[in-house]
Amino acid sequence: MSLTHLARATGAGLLAVTALTAAAHSAQAADTLGSAATAKGRYFGTAVAAGHLGESAYATTLNREFTSATPENEMKWDATEPNRNTFTFGAADQVVNHALGQGMTVRGHTLVWHSQLPSWVGGLGTADLRTAMNNHITRVMQHYKGKIHSWDVVNEAFQDGGSGARRSSPFQDKLGNGFIEEAFRTARAADPAAKLCYNDYNTDGVNAKSNAVYAMVKDFKSRGVPIDCVGFQSHFNSASPVPSDYQANLQRFADLGVDVQITELDIEGSGTSQANSYANVVRACLAVSRCTGITVWGVTDKYSWRSSGTPLLFDSNYNKKPAYDAVLSALGGSGSGGGGGGGATCTATYSKAEEWGDGYNGRVTITAGGSAISNWTTTVTLTPPQKISATWNGSPTWDSSGNVMTMRPNGNGSLAAGASTSFGFTVMKNGSNAVPVVGACTAS
Ligand code: G3I
Repeated sequence: MSLTHLARATGAGLLAVTALTAAAHSAQAADTLGSAATAKGRYFGTAVAAGHLGESAYATTLNREFTSATPENEMKWDATEPNRNTFTFGAADQVVNHALGQGMTVRGHTLVWHSQLPSWVGGLGTADLRTAMNNHITRVMQHYKGKIHSWDVVNEAFQDGGSGARRSSPFQDKLGNGFIEEAFRTARAADPAAKLCYNDYNTDGVNAKSNAVYAMVKDFKSRGVPIDCVGFQSHFNSASPVPSDYQANLQRFADLGVDVQITELDIEGSGTSQANSYANVVRACLAVSRCTGITVWGVTDKYSWRSSGTPLLFDSNYNKKPAYDAVLSALGGSGSGGGGGGGATCTATYSKAEEWGDGYNGRVTITAGGSAISNWTTTVTLTPPQKISATWNGSPTWDSSGNVMTMRPNGNGSLAAGASTSFGFTVMKNGSNAVPVVGACTAS
């Protein structure tokens, strides 16, 4: 008997059926990057090039996997204001309209940057340059007002190396150190609803450059200069690997009272080592509560700016790479991707059973995939102050927070292909109606 039939037969209201279905759905292990990130309260985005939207595999992959888009080049100054006061938004509009039409959010990239800057800007005198910078910020932001989640207001304004100094640019050289503050104040006035970010590379670990950005953000926060977020580009390769203090660095910025975002992630390499590096980045973001989202710098290796380094999650034929599986799994999704592995798989599905005033029983059904499995494991994450007070049909272990329960079989974990088993747990609500999140099911 279906749920609907059962509800009619028992006289239960349709609302109850809808709620039960929604709860079961939302707690099911997610099977795309975007849905898995959503279950963790984050977005998972990609850089998007307008010129590729007409390629069906590109659009299909983009639409299926991602919940945020960043125009890769289309919002830069050379694209939006190639000649003074002549604004051209065609290509950027294409990306924004596509993304919004798919229910994605959009990161605006970027308003003030020394690169991809038309030559007329560099030729202006100081007063004119100030007017042009503020006019550019205002006009571009007003065009997209209400459509942009976060703007990279200023990009890459600090030098590499040990100096911590500002990079030479028309803005720095003519307007001085105050240009960044001025850009942020102008941006806040143009679209008060957009989050305003400073974005840079080689600031992913603690070093002279990130220390200089840190000092600037700290100063801005203490003086009330409007800044909401810091973007960490995170372009990695063997010469510049994921730093060991990546998470600590994200956390120290978050502790200043800004969101942090991973804005242009790509990691050159392949196979397990690339997959592990990607998983480390995702885990670092998830461990920092103010890390609100991750953007990879392109959908497919085919069109990456570092294509020969194959740094992305889909290969040039849009196949999922091991790095894809690692990211999905680190996000708590159901590692059902391709990219090798194969063999033993399982799914974990949550449903709510009995409920009473201050508690309820949850049930997780483990179902083997297309082949028999001999063992399985999954996680159940609670939102505090909810607490699990009892479990059955499983062998639980807990993380240090006491909110994440890892469940393994209580004895024999063998299941034939397609066969199911289930475990249960009692939750004390402690005033919260949050729904438990079931992570990926891993089988062997
Ligand atoms: O569109 C033209 C095409 O018509 C022409 O035939 C071709 C010939 O070179 O060039 C094409 O434009 C290129 C454009 O990408 C689109 O593919 C430009 O030459 C090329 O310079 C441009 O590179 C972009 C780069 O920024 C420029 O600085 C990359 O796509 C883009 O991924 C990259 O993104 C930057 C971020 O904005 C900031 N952080 C670093 C990141 C990586 O460099």
